[in-house]
Amino acid sequence: MLWGNDLSFLYVIISLVVFFVLIAVGWRLFSIRASIPCPAWLSWLVELDNPFFRNNRADVIIEHLALQPGMNILDFGCGPGRLTIPLAKRVGQGGEVTALDAQSGMLQKVRAKIEAESIGNIKLLQAYSGEGKLERNAYDRVLLVTVLGEIPDKISALEEIFASLKQNGMLSVTEVIADPHFMRCRSVRQLAISAGFVEKGFYGNKVSFTMNFEKP
Ligand SMILES: C[S@@+](CC[C@H](N)C(=O)[O-])C[C@H]1O[C@@H](n2cnc3c(N)ncnc32)[C@H](O)[C@@H]1O
Repeated sequence: MLWGNDLSFLYVIISLVVFFVLIAVGWRLFSIRASIPCPAWLSWLVELDNPFFRNNRADVIIEHLALQPGMNILDFGCGPGRLTIPLAKRVGQGGEVTALDAQSGMLQKVRAKIEAESIGNIKLLQAYSGEGKLERNAYDRVLLVTVLGEIPDKISALEEIFASLKQNGMLSVTEVIADPHFMRCRSVRQLAISAGFVEKGFYGNKVSFTMNFEKP
């Protein structure tokens, strides 16, 4: 039997769950009309390793990238640097990671991590997709982890990424249904193929997955 205090606790938990579900659904509905990027003050949510969506964990995504020391990586829409830091450690001092984000607030969080860990192979780049700030034929890997759904002109962004990759370089797209901007694998595939990519790998399931594409 539940007593007063237990009941209040249960009400608080249920209210919190309902609150977050309503925000997620509202945001999802709103984002169908307008692409609103995840705000920097919500970056703590991005950093949570959700136990229900293993495929969105940084270590799991990185395992599918076939990284080599010395590689040049672009973490497109890096957010607070959840993947940027482990990527930089994996490619070593001979490699480099460019952390690109549209929001300076996100890049400030990456800078704080770089300083805290004295990492020397990360370049910060504040840019919005389609601005033409990417070097051509420069990267071995480009990551779009829960970013594609936030980009209004997805085809132009993918074409820009295609041009920025070296030949046989890889684009890796991760999507998870808990993200209000979630994109289905079918839509991701169609867009990537239209931009010139060839599909090379699918990891996960319909609700949380990584798809890898190659620039032929
Ligand atoms: C949900 S967060 C994901 C962050 C990170 N990739 C991760 O998984 O931890 C999406 C990030 O993409 C950035 N973003 C969204 N649209 C963008 C665009 N068009 N150009 C550059 N960055 C963008 C946002 O500012 C935000 O930091």
